[in-house]
Amino acid sequence: MKITSLTENTSFSPEFKHVHGLSFYIEAKNHKILFDMGPDSTFIDNAKKLGIKLENVDTAIISHGHNDHGGALSLFMDINKNAKIYVREDIFGTHLRKDTNGFVNIGLDKSLSSSDRFVFTTDKLKIDDELFIFSSVKGRKHFSKSNGVLYAEKNNEIQLDDFTHEQSLVITEGDKKVLIGGCAHNGIVNIIEKAHELGIKNIHTVISGFHLMIPDENKSEDPALVKAVAKDLIKFGSQYYTCHCTGIESYKVLKEAMGNQVKYISSGMSIDI
Ligand SMILES: [Fe+2]
Ligand SMILES: [Fe+2]
Repeated sequence: MKITSLTENTSFSPEFKHVHGLSFYIEAKNHKILFDMGPDSTFIDNAKKLGIKLENVDTAIISHGHNDHGGALSLFMDINKNAKIYVREDIFGTHLRKDTNGFVNIGLDKSLSSSDRFVFTTDKLKIDDELFIFSSVKGRKHFSKSNGVLYAEKNNEIQLDDFTHEQSLVITEGDKKVLIGGCAHNGIVNIIEKAHELGIKNIHTVISGFHLMIPDENKSEDPALVKAVAKDLIKFGSQYYTCHCTGIESYKVLKEAMGNQVKYISSGMSIDI
């Protein structure tokens, strides 16, 4: 399969646009997949540059209800009229970030929620032999402090977000399993352990933001916590590609600990697996 980054905080080369957000286009054996769309038209411009036809995507997935991943949803729905769009039930809920001036809305456009194109995913959903989506990650190992500024409305109350709106994708091709995540707010180690619990073992490659920074404040997670994450990732034995909310400083700490087992994926870059 071929995985291409269409939106990321950095560009692979100057011809590609970049913006704070995430979007991956994946050509697997049976499906053309769009995993997240980023916040704006960056994914469309980069797709055009690469000759990727977004109108032919058959499966779209939004990792969670933050606008840096699903803000461009209406743009995608305008271009592509056929793909099913897999989302968690609470993805269109109120999602907020707290900063010094109060709450900032970082959620998706709620007016889109009535479209009949959405498939609301359960805790685990096998689409077919190739695609599997899971969520409900309860583990809190190495939980990033940078989640402490993120809130959601639950039962008419604004509470710290518990990220029930987050989901991950597993693509299986032959004996290779690839796990794709968005921000990994639940923690990349907890997400991988949840996959193991569901019987998804020996994951070949993991591609995801690891949420080890506070994007708007440009503050990195404690290096001791990042090193603890690296230790567990090494133990799992997969190859890792990370980006976006991992943050450059935390990426350097991971790289130092993990060497070639971790790499960075920027806008315009492709990985063949
Ligand atoms: Fe997020
Ligand atoms: Fe994000």
